[in-house]
Amino acid sequence: MVRIGVIGAMQEEVSALISQMKDKEEYTIAGMTFCKGSLWNQDAVVVKSGVGKVNIGICTQLMITVFSVDFVINTGVAGGLYKDINVGDIVISSDALQHDLDCTAHDFKKGEIPGMETSVFKADPELVDLAKEACELVNPEISCYVGRVVTGDQFIGVSEKKKELVELFDAYCVEMEGGAMAQVAWLNKVPFVIVRAITDRADDTAAVDYNTFVQQAIVHTVKLLAAMFLKLGR
Ligand code: ADE
Repeated sequence: MVRIGVIGAMQEEVSALISQMKDKEEYTIAGMTFCKGSLWNQDAVVVKSGVGKVNIGICTQLMITVFSVDFVINTGVAGGLYKDINVGDIVISSDALQHDLDCTAHDFKKGEIPGMETSVFKADPELVDLAKEACELVNPEISCYVGRVVTGDQFIGVSEKKKELVELFDAYCVEMEGGAMAQVAWLNKVPFVIVRAITDRADDTAAVDYNTFVQQAIVHTVKLLAAMFLKLGR
């Protein structure tokens, strides 16, 4: 049986998973409590990483090194960038990068990491397909997109900044952890996928929309993950 690592940045994003876990054991490392047990009949480890790239970078490495997970899933919410995307919709990562990595002064492209073979980390195609099938099965009332996720240590809540991200990266959503998890997974040759529900459109009303829709959006990611786990068991 494979072991699945699931990482969410905030308590809301993981509490529904942790409360449904059976035979739970808890281990706290670097201030993060890893819950290991059986989730929807799969061997899983679920953890709240905290917000931002450093937190999830440490967390992902611990998932891999200490808990020996076979793959990692990052679940949570995001700001929508794709023009037709609505609050509540889901984005599954085709790939991920860090939009705030900026060595343009040295002639690198925005998001490009000097010295690395790649700066755009491709999600595992099988996990992407599985997540999409699961989403369409259990969330038929919303749209589910497969597209690029861009990550930075910034909440994007200004339309001008959103415009810049759209023009530069052709991304579907923006958040604050996925690209860093993707980089750590890639460095360790561990497959990954990011699953994000849209709470806002990363524009001037993003902060208010986020608070209004966060609980509602997470319902969709939890349903998706449950269906995905069932499919993995078959
Ligand atoms: N998570 C949810 N909405 C976001 C936004 N607008 N920017 C960054 N992370 C987000």
